[in-house]
Amino acid sequence: MFVRLTVKNNIPYRARKCVYRRASENFVGSEHASKVNEQGDNLMNFEDIPGPRSYPIIGTLHKYLPLIVIGVVAFNERFNSFALSEQDPESRSSKTIAAAFGSNSGVMKLDKGFLWKMFSTPLYKKLVNSQIYLEKISTDILIRKINLFESDDSKNDKSLLKTFLQQPQLDHKDIMGMMVDILMAAIDTTAYTTSFVLYHIARNKRCQDEMFEELHTLLPKKDDEITADVLSKASYVRSSIKESLRLNPVSIGIGRWLQKDIVLKGYSIPKGTVIVTQNMTSSRLPQFIRDPLTFKPERWMRGSPQYETIHPFLSLPFGHGPRSCIARRLAEQNICIILMRLIREFEIQWAGEELGVKTLLINKPNKPVSLNFIPRSS
Ligand code: HEM
Repeated sequence: MFVRLTVKNNIPYRARKCVYRRASENFVGSEHASKVNEQGDNLMNFEDIPGPRSYPIIGTLHKYLPLIVIGVVAFNERFNSFALSEQDPESRSSKTIAAAFGSNSGVMKLDKGFLWKMFSTPLYKKLVNSQIYLEKISTDILIRKINLFESDDSKNDKSLLKTFLQQPQLDHKDIMGMMVDILMAAIDTTAYTTSFVLYHIARNKRCQDEMFEELHTLLPKKDDEITADVLSKASYVRSSIKESLRLNPVSIGIGRWLQKDIVLKGYSIPKGTVIVTQNMTSSRLPQFIRDPLTFKPERWMRGSPQYETIHPFLSLPFGHGPRSCIARRLAEQNICIILMRLIREFEIQWAGEELGVKTLLINKPNKPVSLNFIPRSS
């Protein structure tokens, strides 16, 4: 069926972001948790994931899973990314993941260069083609969903996309732009953050045992549902994510364009300069945090003897202020559920080399994330 996409006068960014943030906040809670649970359960079906139970997750689990989750939550769209056909480089899942990466990884290099302003360099072409693909995928989904929403079949749809479509101030072009933003912002960030948490937990047996103990109490049976109540009590899991984001934030820092001249530590910085904070550097400095290179979730847990009073601006993995991440709680909840399902079901062991980071706008692991999964008996 043909659908005409409407374009109204562009609404101000501030108003659009407000809808964005509200819709994503609404998504945090039991209903969303059960949707992600459903996807998390797929995780346990290792038959669907190519390769043996011990496998490097780079390129498989760590990228396909965020796409599956964000597809369901944001667009009520099933990407079925663990299906063998979707692992083909020409499949929709593989091409969407590649396009998100092609967009994010091109920005920083192009920003530093200038040749692309004179002619289309290969990197610039890659960025443009990636953006075109993300726009195509978003438009296809949008058209299909508009048809569905106009029929009666969408009563149970609680996706972000449905919320967007119910906002009279948003036109279809706004919504398509927001869908592209979400695909670009959600896949690599969630994938790399999950990879780094698994890395730290796999290398710290004491922390993994603590986490398992918490999960065994909260989920006596492996397949017990992760409800909003369970999530709110999983303080060790949440502190582990926070600690991993301190050591390995996926964002370099917060970038801002100075609106006035300032003096910072004796340096005059003129208006118009772009300044970028350095997340990973500052949160590893011994003058701000005890034993900075050690993975210690307890430092974030009030009531623990190892709790520390940490400056609230030291670790800002989701940014700060009006331009901060719109989906912080949503992302934290997704990673929490993935982690809970995996650690409740398996003991994980690190099988790779020490990980560092490679910065392509988003910090990614510089080596394969290799894990062994050993099923737990109870
Ligand atoms: C662990 C996962 C994630 C991390 C660490 C993360 C981090 C960030 C950071 C640092 C920023 C810039 C903040 C600033 O400049 O103050 C940002 C912006 C943004 N994030 Fe996230 N993010 C994550 C997941 C997501 C997800 C899942 C979505 C979408 C569903 C999303 C959507 C966005 C959008 C749209 C912006 C731009 C906001 C604006 O320009 O005003 N992020 N994120």
